[in-house]
Amino acid sequence: MQTAHSSVQAYRGGLLYFHADPAFIEHAHAWHEDGLLVVADGKVQAAGDYATLFPTLPPGTPVQDYRGKIISPGFIDSHIHYPQTDMIASPSPGLLPWLQEYTFPTERAFQDPQHAGQVAEFFLDELLRVGTTTAMVYCTVHPQSVDAFFQASEARGLRMIAGKVLMDRNGPDFLQDTAESGARDTEDLIRRWHNHGRSLYAITPRFAPTSTEEQMALTGELARAWPDTFLQTHVSENEEECRWVKQLYPQARSYLDVYDRYGMMRPRAVFGHCIWLDERDRERMRETQSAAAVCPTSNLFLGSGLFDFEQADKARMLLSLATDVGGGTSFSMLQTMNEAYKVARLKGSYLPAMRMFYLATLGAARSLHLEGTVGSFAAGNEADFIVLDPQATPLLARRAAHCNSLEEQLFALALLGDDRAIAATYSGGKLVHARTQG
Ligand code: GUN
Ligand code: ZN
Repeated sequence: MQTAHSSVQAYRGGLLYFHADPAFIEHAHAWHEDGLLVVADGKVQAAGDYATLFPTLPPGTPVQDYRGKIISPGFIDSHIHYPQTDMIASPSPGLLPWLQEYTFPTERAFQDPQHAGQVAEFFLDELLRVGTTTAMVYCTVHPQSVDAFFQASEARGLRMIAGKVLMDRNGPDFLQDTAESGARDTEDLIRRWHNHGRSLYAITPRFAPTSTEEQMALTGELARAWPDTFLQTHVSENEEECRWVKQLYPQARSYLDVYDRYGMMRPRAVFGHCIWLDERDRERMRETQSAAAVCPTSNLFLGSGLFDFEQADKARMLLSLATDVGGGTSFSMLQTMNEAYKVARLKGSYLPAMRMFYLATLGAARSLHLEGTVGSFAAGNEADFIVLDPQATPLLARRAAHCNSLEEQLFALALLGDDRAIAATYSGGKLVHARTQG
């Protein structure tokens, strides 16, 4: 039934979102056990208690009933490779052989726009199935892989960040650009896609070993010339890789310093992994308002190392969680939290579930300097949200019956949940995924 106010929609259920980092602020989250999320024209109009908000709705406003479930801002995955979808879970004894044996040959096929489009569609289905509504995405060296990705994400109306990989040395011939062609293609793609609809562009040097100094310099220039674009790369992931960077850039103080010297550390620069940083590196992350994308399933899978949450928090670094598929072994941010929790334990620190949900929502939005756009239910945010089902599986349901607090409930979801715990995913106020079973 269409009514005069059909652009307003409301969703009733438990509402959870953040307005601060629970690691540093005591009352950082909002929780409305019987809550109402009011959406108008694809944006959050209000979020609060059902009893307070329901009477303010225009007569006839449809209210979707999600009582017993938890409505949260959609998850944000700050580091993921869409072309690596088909090679997830490829066995290899470490990062560098894994790149040579599986990653590079798989990425080669993305010179074909049709193949790229087909993988992009599957990839987006998978993101929405696990409740990820925004991702920061690596494409391949081929500009057409970026066009294919944004064409697919725009057709679904998604808020996505992506970019063409820059790599002009130390990779196979079939996967190399040149310093000039890489910069030219990047600039063309920025003009075509950055702020086009909900698309945002990320300048994407793969990592220091696969760029010449000339490419690094041109990339730094692009980062300065386009200050509101994003920048993504890998840093200090694996010890063997760190030794290689030391050989290639002997003048740099550290691996991170290579990027710093070329002017790549700035707001909206996101550095994947950040495992082997030192204190000065962490300070530079904070000073430049760059962000770390922490990728626990990938780091455990490739044996790269354990991220140090305690040191990162001490330095007040911007942090977010990320899957790093295909190095990562799951698309699910819940499964990513599961592994992040264990990584923290192995480093002698502790990540409450509240913190992990923050890092996957508002914390990520802050890392990307997108607060006010996504990651929260503050009025005016884009209505990207998910419906979490605490009773999604027989085991979760059994555990839920014995939970005594919201923290325990979220913890069980993080440790035991996956795509089955996502009952529905909405983007811009539109239903983009509904779980079929259960
Ligand atoms: N370092 C350079 N390229 C890659 C990649 O594709 N995945 C991971 N995990 N690390 C990288
Ligand atoms: Zn990666």
